[in-house]
Order: sequence, then structure tokens, then C-alpha cells
Amino acid sequence: MRSAFFLFCAALLSAAIPATAPQRVTLAVERSSPQDVEVSGDVPGIPQGAKRFVRYEDLSRLSQVAFTVRDDSNFSGPVKLSGVSLDELLRALGVDEGKQPGKQLIAAICDDGYEGHYTAEYRAAHHPFLVLRIGGAEPAKWPRGPDGENYGPYLISHPSFSPAFHVLAHADEAQIPYGVVGLRFFDEAAVLKDLRPTGAVASPAVEGYRIALQNCLRCHRQGDIGGTKSPFGWPQMALIAQGNPAAFGKYVLRPNSVNPEANMPANPQYDATTIAALTAYFRSMATEAKR
Ligand code: HEC
Repeated sequence: MRSAFFLFCAALLSAAIPATAPQRVTLAVERSSPQDVEVSGDVPGIPQGAKRFVRYEDLSRLSQVAFTVRDDSNFSGPVKLSGVSLDELLRALGVDEGKQPGKQLIAAICDDGYEGHYTAEYRAAHHPFLVLRIGGAEPAKWPRGPDGENYGPYLISHPSFSPAFHVLAHADEAQIPYGVVGLRFFDEAAVLKDLRPTGAVASPAVEGYRIALQNCLRCHRQGDIGGTKSPFGWPQMALIAQGNPAAFGKYVLRPNSVNPEANMPANPQYDATTIAALTAYFRSMATEAKR
């Protein structure tokens, strides 16, 4: 009687779960290899402030994408890349079942403090993917980059990239970090709240915000998000923009003209209006900090 009942339930269950149940990845509490990717943030099953680890083998079992990529500046020529799209990864982590489906911002944390950012809008336009194989080979057999860079443990690339937007002299820029050790998941609306300028929807500060979000945030930090390549976070940049806007603008344009030892890349493509927008944005952040 009991076993008949069990069979009945099993039949019901197998009817309810489609044969191709979506693959999920296992979140380990401890790192098992340097090749594990660290996962944190707004992910079901990860307590606030905690980290979990996903194995390369588990990522390899997810649905893969493969492209011959011709325009990734980390490579000197066309290259076959395959791996897991960031959207597939969101699904495999169960993230898109959250309160705001499709509205996550993913940060790719690199071993040198650099951080790449992937908004929902960016992912829809460019389909970024976490690279698991280069030329069909696993990480242990990856070549070095044109400048001797070690691509691993992970890099992020795109099938192809053309700018989806322009803000003044800033063109939508490919977020193609290598040396990616971790992925952090944010509720996009919540994390951008601390970065958004208040006030008019169309203003120089709002244009500056959109540029800063894609450019400056990769190395400069604001609260929970942003790279740590620069020791100066948002509050310090805001103070410089407010206290000495000319020096701020000069630094953004050509850091080397101010400090010969500067590591920050130059932005010679930015015209005066673009620099003014960035300055207006960071100045507005200083005013907010004082409130
Ligand atoms: C690839 C990393 C990177 C990006 C992107 C970046 N910075 Fe920087 N920035 C740095 C580093 C590193 C420093 C510390 C000094 C140095 O080495 O240049 C710095 C320093 C600065 C300073 C302080 C200069 C001083 O010493 O007074 C300002 C202001 C600044 N950055 C503004 C910006 C703005 C605005 C953006 C975006 C338009 C930006 N940075 C994008 C890496 C970056």
C-alpha cells in the first residue's frame, strides 16, 4: 500500500518536473581550487556578507556559448572563446527568481582591484560571457596575452562589441576584464541609489553619472561597489572635483600631466563638455555627502 502510494507520488513529481530541469550550480562554503570562482552578494542561499565558491567543472556543465571573437582588445587576433553567459549564470544561481527579475547588476572582481560592471541593459545589448576555454583549451593551457598578461582564472568577453550608447564624448565601452576571481551580484536599483545624482533628469551631472558608472567605477569605489585599484573612492574624488575642479579635469584627461607616476589611464577622447559633466557629477556627490 505504502509503496503504491510512493509510486503514485513519484509519477506525479516526474510529470511536474520537466525532463530538462534547469541545471543549478553548487555553492561550496570552502574554496577547493584557485580555479573556483568566488560568488557573493544578492544570491539565494548566500548569507549577507558571506562568500561561496563555484567550481570550474560545475560551470562547464552549464549550457555553453562559443564564438570566434574578432574584436576583443585582450587578444591580438581572432580567437575561439567559449563559456557561460552571465545571464545563464544568473539563472543557474537562482538569482533571477528574486524580487526584481532581470534587474541585477553583476560586478566582476579582479585580482588587481579592477572591477567590471554588467547592468541588465549592458547584458541585453552585449551578451557578455565568462570564458572557460580559449581555443578549446582549459585554463591550465591558456596562452599569455600580447603584454604577457595571465588571463586566468577567468576573463569576460563578448560575441562582438559595438557601442550601444554615447554620452557626450564617451562611447559605451567593452567591459573585458581578465584575472577575474569573483562575481558579486547586486540588486541594480538598490546599489545605484548611492551613485545616482539627485535633481534634474537631464543635466550635466546625470550625463557625468552615466560616464562615471562605466568608466571610473572600475577602479574607484563608492560604498559596496567599485574597484579598489585607486586608493581614492567617491568621497575623495568628490572633494577634489569641488575643491579644485581644474586639477580634477586635468587629471581625468591626462593623469601623467599632473603626476608622472600615475597609473590611471588617460581619457584624451573627452572634450571640455564631457569633462565638465564629470566634474558636475562628482561635485554634486560632495554636496550630497555634506547633507
Ligand atoms: C583603470 C583604473 C582607473 C580608472 C578607470 C579611473 N581611475 Fe582615477 N585613478 C586611478 C588610480 C590608480 C589613481 C591613483 C593615482 C594614479 O596612479 O594615477 C587614480 C586617481 C584619480 C584621482 C586623484 C588624483 C589625485 O591624486 O589628486 C582622480 C580625481 C581620479 N582618479 C578621477 C577619475 C575619474 C573621474 C575617472 C573616470 C572618468 C577615473 N578616475 C577612472 C585609476 C583609475
